[in-house]
Amino acid sequence: MNSTLKSFIEGMPKAELHLHIEGSFEPELMFAIAQRNQVKTKFDSVEAVKEAYQFNNLQDFLDIYYEGARVLLTEQDFFDLTWAYVERIHAQNVIHTEIFFDPQTHTDRGVDFGVVISGISRALAQAEQKYGITSRIIMCFLRHLDESEAEKTLAQALAYKDRIYGVGLDSSELGHPPSKFKNVFAKAIEEGFVTVAHAGEEGPAEYIWEALDLLHISRLDHGNRSKDDPKLMARLAAEKMALTVCPLSNLKLCVVDDLKAHPLRFLMENNLKVTINSDDPAYFGGYMNENYIAITEALELNRTELKQLAQNAFEACFVDEGRKREMLAQLEAYFAENAF
Ligand code: HPA
Ligand code: ZN
Repeated sequence: MNSTLKSFIEGMPKAELHLHIEGSFEPELMFAIAQRNQVKTKFDSVEAVKEAYQFNNLQDFLDIYYEGARVLLTEQDFFDLTWAYVERIHAQNVIHTEIFFDPQTHTDRGVDFGVVISGISRALAQAEQKYGITSRIIMCFLRHLDESEAEKTLAQALAYKDRIYGVGLDSSELGHPPSKFKNVFAKAIEEGFVTVAHAGEEGPAEYIWEALDLLHISRLDHGNRSKDDPKLMARLAAEKMALTVCPLSNLKLCVVDDLKAHPLRFLMENNLKVTINSDDPAYFGGYMNENYIAITEALELNRTELKQLAQNAFEACFVDEGRKREMLAQLEAYFAENAF
């Protein structure tokens, strides 16, 4: 790629809408926290951790991702994890981020819900004070566990409603369709949470229909497999439903064999509101800029398409109209100065 296009991407103001905070856990920090907490893991060096990052599918990755999260115990651990992510995105001109966390991964190990949410939200408050980065927190239910477990998690979350904007659904997709969680999502909506869900990453288009009709999602995480179903694409386009696409994640988890075969442009051509995100950047080889650069290179995206992708994310984020307008104006100004 020519260096001016690369700099254009790097300097562009961006919003991230699909990021698992536990997936931003870099091996060096993981190791430091493991030592601080005297927690033993499967890995005896940073290199051993990195070598383990070869995945054939989503489950291969999840096994390692949950292993890494085991070292997180204290409020300071969750702060350090989140702050490290904030520093990375600040360096990449990300001005707004909406992050997922998996409460069950921690509460099932005896870590208090409040410890997790306090560490994450303290770092995000500091991100706003220090860098002006705004944010939202979305808690995900682990879909490989029962709906009753998700219900317990929702009940625990009510005490922290002021800090949790939405609920989502992640973990092993195949065999765990959105319909399994329709009751708990209905309760979450009654409690005032916005809903999103991972669907159509490894699972079929049918799971996306279920996420729309049964979970009443406001945004679709991944959604790649909508490419298989023209009626579904028409519905998503009509509803202006945003898709949080994660190119390097799709490559590393073998959702696509090659980024050149990625459906992103096809989805955009079908008028879907596509956004670019990093998913689990410490595991998949890159944060926002690396994702933008890799997909731009593979699909030969131009500046107008790049602007559209960034704009889609600002339009699809869960903030008030004033902040949205401010971020969109920042993008316009950047584009006007750097279009050619
Ligand atoms: N898919 C499902 N669950 C996840 C992912 C993902 O990409 N990342 C972290 N949990
Ligand atoms: Zn994800």
